[in-house]
Amino acid sequence: MAGDAPLVQQMASTTLADDGDSSPIWAKFSCRVLIRNIICRPDGGVGLAGQKVAVGGWVKTGREQGKGSFAFLELNDGSCPANLQVIVEASVAPLSQLVHTGTCVYVEGELKKPPEGTKQNVELKVEKVIDVGPVDPAKYPLPKTRLTLEFLRDFVHLRPRTNTISAVARIRNALAYATHTFFQKHGFLYVHTPIITTSDCEGAGEMFQVTTLLNDAEKLEKELQKNPPPSEAELEAARFFVKEKGENVARLKSAKASKEDISAAVAELTKAKESFTKMEERSKLKPGLPQKDGKIDYSQDFFARQAFLTVSGQLQVEGFACALSSVYTFGPTFRAEHSHTSRHLAEFWMVEPEIAFADLEDDMNCAEAYVKFLCQWLLDNCLDDLEFMVKHFDKSAIDRLKMVSSTPFKRISYTEAVELLEKVTDKKFENKVEWGIDLASEHERYLTEVIFQKPVIVYNYPKGIKAFYMRLNDDMKTVAAMDVLVPKVGELIGGSQREERHEVIEKRILEMGLPLEPYEWYLDLRRYGTVKHCGFGLGFERMVLFATGIDNIRDVIPFPRYPGRADL
Ligand code: 4AD
Ligand code: MG
Repeated sequence: MAGDAPLVQQMASTTLADDGDSSPIWAKFSCRVLIRNIICRPDGGVGLAGQKVAVGGWVKTGREQGKGSFAFLELNDGSCPANLQVIVEASVAPLSQLVHTGTCVYVEGELKKPPEGTKQNVELKVEKVIDVGPVDPAKYPLPKTRLTLEFLRDFVHLRPRTNTISAVARIRNALAYATHTFFQKHGFLYVHTPIITTSDCEGAGEMFQVTTLLNDAEKLEKELQKNPPPSEAELEAARFFVKEKGENVARLKSAKASKEDISAAVAELTKAKESFTKMEERSKLKPGLPQKDGKIDYSQDFFARQAFLTVSGQLQVEGFACALSSVYTFGPTFRAEHSHTSRHLAEFWMVEPEIAFADLEDDMNCAEAYVKFLCQWLLDNCLDDLEFMVKHFDKSAIDRLKMVSSTPFKRISYTEAVELLEKVTDKKFENKVEWGIDLASEHERYLTEVIFQKPVIVYNYPKGIKAFYMRLNDDMKTVAAMDVLVPKVGELIGGSQREERHEVIEKRILEMGLPLEPYEWYLDLRRYGTVKHCGFGLGFERMVLFATGIDNIRDVIPFPRYPGRADL
């Protein structure tokens, strides 16, 4: 290594491979070693003692010691839940600048084995402070004290600095990775479905509208204020002016005036006419939304028709399943329901596989295998974060994942579920149970948490409470739908076999009072080369809730959107 050059510079020009236990793994795209690659090694980092590294992170806690001769910093870079203990001597840097919670420090030094009896396996003795992002402790909104998740919702931009939100972020990331791994492993193709759509997948009318008409109207209103349209009197004056100019041309012509004089008069007339036409057009401008036949005229909107944010990518992904056979989409979905519950968001992410040549049973098998895979993946890859959750939020989080990953899910028909719930005597439900009702969250949770104490798949729901695209069963009363219910959350997945018979689905759309026109393209999938197919949607945040044991869905998505809230 070259003489006295700072360590980071030396490292920047060197590609270091992980060549055994005693060398640190340097990050490929930033000049540092991830804290995870120091303290999460099987040996806790002991084998790295004596090695020089650079690390960066944010101070969790810092304290000056030895009468201000040195400071201990607990440093976290988000790569793992644990912190690296860093020791800085006063001779290296002014300590008061480093110790406040939230301070960003980027340092280099030597890893050391701490004295016997300390809980750390390894600590960093700083030789050089490369950079500091200071914090004014009087102003920093996230002090060291324990803060409620509700309080943190007012600081969504800073809350990833907390242990809880960073653990949730890592678990969420692992679930996304596991999702792609599962579907790719089983030959599913990832399809990007549109965010803006004109069809209401669930037919429930809970869509956010996408329009530029309001902006246009606002712009026009401002413009008209600044530059008001001509009044009737002004128009009349302009009309008179045109008339005068016309008469002038006629007069000159009959007086056999010179060519030049006539041309000049004609030019004046043309100018007056143009100016009048413009004024006339402006006089027609009306503030507000464009109207036609007493309704808003969407033909003047950006997409020349009404458009919305998607509630589900299912309909579009079906088109790909009916060509590429096994596909999935994983993207944001939007619902304008005014539910202020701990299980609903206005913007959430959904994983939606769609399988051709498959029926409801295949659908349930896929859903069960996928959920089990997610649980096992977390147990294999996120144990330290899960342990944090167990300690601070939900004692049973790890046991629940173990149980779900290893226990066959209970499968019962909707009719059986209702019969079981009707017999319940030890609990009074707020919503009355009878055949035909949409199961409420309290019923779903009772089935999975109390009666079966494991995930339950309820299938064959009454057609009246489910979406138009679900396949009508031979009893003509139920559809081939299925919901996966899990403890802690209730409904995690909703899915179905799709109605592949053209006449039947067309009838169902009309029966539900929906217009056919936006679904014509969807009907084409049944008109041409129709195929038996099925699919489901897993609410990604519900899965994070289930895994972490966190109570409110607003705390498991980086930037929650719910009624009254869309910050940042
Ligand atoms: O049951 P849902 O409405 O099903 C569909 O949207 C189908 N098109 C899916 C498909 O078959 N491809 O929604 C699926 C899941 C629910 O089970 C629930 O977990 C979650 O999405 N979900 C929500 N999550 C958070 N906030 C909301 N407002 C949610 N609405 C549904
Ligand atoms: Mg549902």
